Amino acid sequence: MFNLKDKVAVITGAAGGLGESMAIALSKQGAKIAIFDIKDGQGTIKKLKTKSKFYKVDMSNDKNIEETVNLVKKDFGKIDILINNAGVFYPTIINSTKKEEWEKLMAINVTGYFLMAKYCTPKMKSGGRIINVASVAGHHAFAASSAYNASKGAVISLTKSMAMEYAPKNINVNAICPGFFVTPMTQGLAKTEGIKTTLSNAIPLKRSGKSEELGGLAVYLSSDECSYMTGSIINIDGGWTCHL
Ligand SMILES: NC(=O)c1ccc[n+]([C@@H]2O[C@H](COP(=O)([O-])OP(=O)(O)OC[C@H]3O[C@@H](n4cnc5c(N)ncnc54)[C@H](O)[C@@H]3O)[C@@H](O)[C@H]2O)c1
Repeated sequence: MFNLKDKVAVITGAAGGLGESMAIALSKQGAKIAIFDIKDGQGTIKKLKTKSKFYKVDMSNDKNIEETVNLVKKDFGKIDILINNAGVFYPTIINSTKKEEWEKLMAINVTGYFLMAKYCTPKMKSGGRIINVASVAGHHAFAASSAYNASKGAVISLTKSMAMEYAPKNINVNAICPGFFVTPMTQGLAKTEGIKTTLSNAIPLKRSGKSEELGGLAVYLSSDECSYMTGSIINIDGGWTCHL
């Protein structure tokens, strides 16, 4: 079960954090991995056992994305799995967010996901899988994070549209909504009293998630066994969102 041997997976934002953990998990199941990141991803490549390659890409640059997806096709011959994961988080309130900051965040967190799907799906010749990494912030507003919250709500909505549009091509599309995981994105936040209180009062499992705890879900959603699930939005959050 969950054999990904010879499948080719493109994972964005996999130079560290949750993307790197998903790359390791898919590689363990046999998938070949193409990593897209604006940061150097050679460190991740060294942790992978299967054929893998790092591509330096800016997920807010349309032309850069299109050209790099074409390179992956040249290097690996096909694409089977796309994990849209690259993202940024700016903790700002609406009245002090510059328009440029809003647009940059949306370009990476939303438009980048759309462009990756647009360029990768024509290369998924025998069906495929797309996993969009959203957030519990797409369901419930985090304080002082309006651009981020809006971007993750958009990813949830986009996932459902993609699921409908790509179903005739046997490309299943699902979204993962992580709760709080300590990664380079959240390590500063992890030290704050606010998060410590949330962990002990609002999260039934009373701890943050470990990056590797996302791996099994990513493997399942990438696999042939995930043949009847599409358009699903899956929380992985220690129970955070099961109560108000
Ligand atoms: N860590 C959490 O608690 C948490 C919770 C919910 C959702 N998420 C989501 O999970 C995803 C991964 O986040 P993470 O926590 O691993 O953060 P992270 O900062 O460790 O990883 C994000 C990756 O995206 C890359 N990236 C940023 N801008 C880019 C750009 N313009 N082009 C290409 N790559 C770019 C970064 O270089 C980085 O490697 C994000 O979409 C994030 O919103 C994280």
